[in-house]
Amino acid sequence: MPKVSSAPRVLSVGEVAKRSGVAVSTIHYYEDKGLIKSARSNGNQRRYGRGVLRRIAIIRIAKRAGIPLKTIKAHLDKLPDKAISQEDWQHISQAWHDMLNQRITSLLQLRDELGGCIGCGCLSLADCPLRNPDDVLAAEGPGARILIHQAQDDPEPSGKQDSPNR
Ligand code: FES
Repeated sequence: MPKVSSAPRVLSVGEVAKRSGVAVSTIHYYEDKGLIKSARSNGNQRRYGRGVLRRIAIIRIAKRAGIPLKTIKAHLDKLPDKAISQEDWQHISQAWHDMLNQRITSLLQLRDELGGCIGCGCLSLADCPLRNPDDVLAAEGPGARILIHQAQDDPEPSGKQDSPNR
């Protein structure tokens, strides 16, 4: 004879807190941010499907990895409301693994650049790699490089000049 589970199909916020190890206030916060959903009981109390426990587990793992809630939500939003499957988690964890690798690479680069600032203190826009890290056009020379490129690609028609009153 098959066993009939006595576990409740829906959980109160207190039960979710107890089973997930997360404070009630945090559960409310996750819900406010749209990371988890609840329904209302006849007495207007929050009730959560059992799948919320896996969602909270994933949120906690992501938080430990420093993944912003906005990114977590973007991934969770792609999933159906049912419990998150093993396959779903494999896709998410692979994406976050790649994201963390990129972040680690970026942090290692930042650490190395920061090494050049120790004992310097110039904070020079021209010389300090941390002040202007994305200035890839600086190698081309001084001036507004993007405007110079645009002017070369789309020169003003000859004989037509802007009126000073326009
Ligand atoms: S503060 Fe001088 S190089 Fe960064």
